[in-house]
Amino acid sequence: MCGIVGYIGQKPATPILLDGLARLEYRGYDSAGVAVLAAKRSLEVHKVAGRVRDVMATLPAGFEGADDILSRCVRGHYMGIGHTRWATHGGPSDDNAHPHLSQDRRVAVVHNGIIDNAADLRKALIGDGVTFRSETDTEVLAHLVARAYADTLEDAVLEALAQVEGTYGLAVIDARHPDRIVVARNGSPIILGIGENEMHVASDVAALVRYTTQVVHLDDGELASVTLDGFRTFTWGARSTSKETVTVDWSYDDYDRGAYEHFMIKEIHEQPESVRRCIRGRVDERFHTAHLGGLNLDAREARGIRRIKILGCGSAYYAGQFGAQFIEEVARIPADAEPASEFRYRNPVVEPDTLYVAVSQSGETYDTLTAVQELKRKGGRVIGLVNVVGSSIARACDGGIYLHAGPEVAVASTKALTNMSVGFSLLGVHLGRIRDLSPANGRRLVDGLQALPNQIDAILENGQAITDAAQWVSKAQSIFFVGRVRGYPVAREGAQKLKEISYLHAEAYQTSELKHGPLALISPDVPTVAIVPDDELFDRNLTALHEISARSGPMLVITHEGVDVGDLAATTIKVPRNEPELDPILMTVPLQMLAYRVSVALGRDIDKPRNLAKSVTVE
Ligand code: F6R
Repeated sequence: MCGIVGYIGQKPATPILLDGLARLEYRGYDSAGVAVLAAKRSLEVHKVAGRVRDVMATLPAGFEGADDILSRCVRGHYMGIGHTRWATHGGPSDDNAHPHLSQDRRVAVVHNGIIDNAADLRKALIGDGVTFRSETDTEVLAHLVARAYADTLEDAVLEALAQVEGTYGLAVIDARHPDRIVVARNGSPIILGIGENEMHVASDVAALVRYTTQVVHLDDGELASVTLDGFRTFTWGARSTSKETVTVDWSYDDYDRGAYEHFMIKEIHEQPESVRRCIRGRVDERFHTAHLGGLNLDAREARGIRRIKILGCGSAYYAGQFGAQFIEEVARIPADAEPASEFRYRNPVVEPDTLYVAVSQSGETYDTLTAVQELKRKGGRVIGLVNVVGSSIARACDGGIYLHAGPEVAVASTKALTNMSVGFSLLGVHLGRIRDLSPANGRRLVDGLQALPNQIDAILENGQAITDAAQWVSKAQSIFFVGRVRGYPVAREGAQKLKEISYLHAEAYQTSELKHGPLALISPDVPTVAIVPDDELFDRNLTALHEISARSGPMLVITHEGVDVGDLAATTIKVPRNEPELDPILMTVPLQMLAYRVSVALGRDIDKPRNLAKSVTVE
């Protein structure tokens, strides 16, 4: 999805902007560009449909990154803005790439989001003699700012935004006001990075962490005027606001692949440590429960909860299904999960004694964010399970649990999802121990949670069987994933991971549902990946394996150490035993590896699968 960077400071701007854009590449994009302040108070723009490195190729000969011949030192400083675009209005092309310029090339704008009334504004501007160079909704902003009557850039941006309906995170520069970048936020993140004698702007901290860890998050309806010596924030009504500076604990190295071939496999291997981080400081050994200070929910309020509704999208929704199962089982509170993208459109009944839980890695998924906003508007109490500190969803919720997975770069989520399940487990134990979960069961689950990191390590160390299985699975066109009750969210996540990065068709079913239809599709060409924990449903699962085997369906069975499924399976992967309620967390790990290894075998673009973006900030 689209990304924004901006810089004003003593150093040449172009290399900093391009480096920032390269850090945002993981989000997915189709074009990129920069606009920098040049000599004689003009702007120089380089933009292309393609990669950030293609923008570099358009720079004048001799440009070597460190030695900036593009941006000029104007009045003792450098300034510029940059963008990675994910096409919405108008296909990927050089003209449609941002930044967009006003007709006199004095104003440049980069924008994330969608201007809903762009068509009407465009028509009116064309009627006034404006010539458009792109098909984008964003270009209207550049013309509106340039044509504003205001004397200051801040007022010109306010005047332009007063005419605009839609969502935006945007940054504007004006060669007539070379000492400032004006940014604004309405539904799409804008973050200010505070450096020494310099300021940065970005839509994602990934672009900032190389330069500063001190950041300020703008709120919706807020603008900032960013200058060399700091920033000033204000509202649409020009009323000044005060902001809190937050320290980011992610580092530049976190965005480095190191010796790993892909970010996805690096992030899979980071799971033992990221699970440790999620649990650290949250286990109460005395009362065998979890400490979750950020929930902003006291014990009396927690006792009053009669229902839990979990909302997320894609894999986060599947993690939510795990969470609902765990909480209902452990805390005995009726719980279910629903895709946030559906929930927000069906005019849901919002009940005062329901606790709503939004779950999101990025904290910026538009569907989940708007579901939270709809809930808040109706008076619902919402907590968040979110990975990115200070993100829109985290800030929109009444409280929550940060996942501490560290930055996740691969589009296919792995370590953040595992931490979502760990976060739900902590929540379930916390709520359970306030209600009827016994100290002995609390202890059992807390011990189980603490055993997870070493057990994940053990699964990762024994990856050869999965690598071998990937060879035969990758030859199929269509693959079934089956699991039941606790195993069903595991199957759904396994199918999701495989299809998004391998492009093979994969479908998940409850094992119990096979005989009600899908069994007709079982054949020697359609492998089944079966989740078969050694729990109270083992015998029933075994019956289904026999049914599949009787129809010559090849099987990959994920089960527990010590279990023997005979010759039913072509490959059996055995994971260590934890507690039955927590086993799904461990059983998901081999499926991440399977998706990865199958996709390696098929030569896919694993970290940036086709048609997908890391953070889905549009409808
Ligand atoms: C799958 C995947 C997506 C996300 C979904 C929600 O690997 O990454 O399905 O889970 O787009 O994203 P977040 O968690 O950022 O809200």
